[in-house]
Amino acid sequence: MKLRFLYIILCGTLSTGFSQNYEAKVDSLINLMTLQEKIGQTVMYSGHWDQTGPFVGADNGKYIREGNMGAMLNAMSVKGTRDLQKIAVEESRLGIPLLFGYDVIHGHRTIFPINLGLSASWDLKMVEESSRIAAEEASAEGIHWTFAPMIDVSREPRWGRISEGAGEDVFLNNEIGKAYVRGFQGDDLSQPNTVLACAKHYVAYGAAQAGRDYHTTNMGEGELRNVYLPPFKAAVDAGVETFMSAFNELNGVPTSGNKFTLRDILRDEWKFDGFVVSDYTSINEMIQHGFAKDSIDAARIGMNAGVDMDMVGHVYRLHLKTLVEEGKVSEAYINDACKRILLAKFKLGLFDDPYRYIDELREANTAYKPEFLAKAREIAAASSVLLQNNNKVLPLSKKTKSIAFIGPLVKDEADILGNWAAKGERGGKAVSVFEGVSEYLKANQILYAKGCDILNDDRSGFEEAISISQKADQIVLVMGENHHMSGEAASRTDLKIPGIQPELIKKIREANPNKNITLVLMNGRPLNLSDEVNLVDAILEVWFPGTMGGAATADLLFGTVNPSGKLTVTFPRNVGQVPIYYNMKNTGRPIPENNPKQDYKSNYIDVPNTPLFVFGHGLSYTKFRYSDLKLSSENLTFSSTIEASVKITNTGNIDGFEIVQLYIHDKVGSVTRPVKELKGFQKIFLKKGESKTVTFTISAEDLKFYNSDMIYGVEIGEFEIAIAPSSDFKFKHTFNLND
Ligand code: GLC
Repeated sequence: MKLRFLYIILCGTLSTGFSQNYEAKVDSLINLMTLQEKIGQTVMYSGHWDQTGPFVGADNGKYIREGNMGAMLNAMSVKGTRDLQKIAVEESRLGIPLLFGYDVIHGHRTIFPINLGLSASWDLKMVEESSRIAAEEASAEGIHWTFAPMIDVSREPRWGRISEGAGEDVFLNNEIGKAYVRGFQGDDLSQPNTVLACAKHYVAYGAAQAGRDYHTTNMGEGELRNVYLPPFKAAVDAGVETFMSAFNELNGVPTSGNKFTLRDILRDEWKFDGFVVSDYTSINEMIQHGFAKDSIDAARIGMNAGVDMDMVGHVYRLHLKTLVEEGKVSEAYINDACKRILLAKFKLGLFDDPYRYIDELREANTAYKPEFLAKAREIAAASSVLLQNNNKVLPLSKKTKSIAFIGPLVKDEADILGNWAAKGERGGKAVSVFEGVSEYLKANQILYAKGCDILNDDRSGFEEAISISQKADQIVLVMGENHHMSGEAASRTDLKIPGIQPELIKKIREANPNKNITLVLMNGRPLNLSDEVNLVDAILEVWFPGTMGGAATADLLFGTVNPSGKLTVTFPRNVGQVPIYYNMKNTGRPIPENNPKQDYKSNYIDVPNTPLFVFGHGLSYTKFRYSDLKLSSENLTFSSTIEASVKITNTGNIDGFEIVQLYIHDKVGSVTRPVKELKGFQKIFLKKGESKTVTFTISAEDLKFYNSDMIYGVEIGEFEIAIAPSSDFKFKHTFNLND
């Protein structure tokens, strides 16, 4: 009897005879495998939709038949994955099914706002819903595994990949990362509408020096443990099944060859039992880093450090067998890696039915379901941030006689999806702002001019733009970056709105000194808007809002939806302030509040220390009053809790959501502590005139940090506390933590 059939019977029996004891099944299978077949499971190649990195897709069929491939990325569709899976199951010696992975970051077909935008909703339910829908659509096209969530804390707006994460705050990245994991993996991975999630990029990739992608990261272990590691620990606690190691070196050791982070912390401290995939050729890149002599050395370092799977680098397939035979890599490491990968395939049910994600009916009927598009519209609106609304020029009236829509992104249906838009169709499927506002206005109310492009210096469109701006009652500019200007390998040294767009804004203001001008921004990073804040009345940050972005933007412009988003990244006055973030240290020479001009303090001589827009900032069309902050006690012990509550009233005449934020400041520590830290948030809905009391419960657990001895604990002393609408406030209340 062919070995393959024996093994299938074995697995079949195990899958029906035993409970979900996958380990036993995996051990039985491993015992049938040759060393090279075990290595084969640690190899990933790319399908023909290869969109990232320098490697061209290899001869996939050959590797699969040889048992030299365990997973593929950029391969999807029922037909595509069926053809590949058939080779694996029917033409390889053991018939082990392939794992299909893809970058489903903020949607698969239905595209949601870029993740930095999604984070600005502060809505964990929405984050989970968006990833659940993404999993539905991706799994319907044969995908088992997404390379998401990206949970790299970043305070670097120059870094293009700040667009892919949840911003500068640790707590928010923790909570949002867990919501993504829940959405992607669901509560039963054996269901064919769930996908493995992947916590990336492990670790500290977002601390790239000068914001230049792939650049060096250097920091003390305290910064690593207090800022960059926590979201990855949170993902482990949420049950994430895979990790992705990163490109960057950390303190001189590349993170794809870093035993300290990959084994000491991830395995020994956190007991993570999933598998780690490298980033795209990141094992090979240890040669360029000057950390590996050659590709054999890179393979040795990668496997010994704890990277279980080589993404398209060839090095595991080519060198691990020799390295084991030479005693340079323990076969036990290969067995561990292979087991973790097989375990994931068992959990997905691929051994019970390798074709369970291959269903023509599901593929034909899942993408772009009306309820998915409706949800995308709702989430895009909730992710947008009203940065400025002078003279309450927003919301606009549908009765306005004429509105001039000007800018290169008014009719855009491609950039609107942002970077990493998976199989989102650029052009045609997405709703542009022009289409969105056309739902609210008649054709004769709309004047349109593109005015200029995003990047070139062709001013030939200026005249027409200025002319229609003078004819209209209201002016709406839709400008920003294109989707290639953020995401991977897209760092910028200049944070201004690119090209000649700022010049056109200025000319339109000069031509209309007293007219209301609204600027709608599409961009993948905090921008330097120091000029624009004085040229326009309102600024609505919609990020790259996705498939339904134009409709959502119109809903906000005309007030169908009241803006509720709040920034999760600081907007600097200029790039010279960077890195600038809300929870910096006080320094020994803070600027005295009562005498900001005092000399010899930690300040600049050309701009204030404060940013243009702070973390947590976001306006509404109504107003919320915070009052009566009360503490259930001013003394906390290691075993008690304190309730902090505040009354919030909607004093305006429009219903709205408010994101209430809890901040705490540890006044004295054995290491200096941030001037404030987000420790909780709640999103509440208040009808006009309505009041609610919002309560947060604080315990000593919330106050823990790593001290200089790398001990995770809390220290007694005085703490300041505030519940506020943003990070811009003065503390007025304290409590003590006593022994
Ligand atoms: C890319 C990215 C990573 C992505 C991977 C596969 O280079 O760094 O985020 O998941 O390759 O596309």
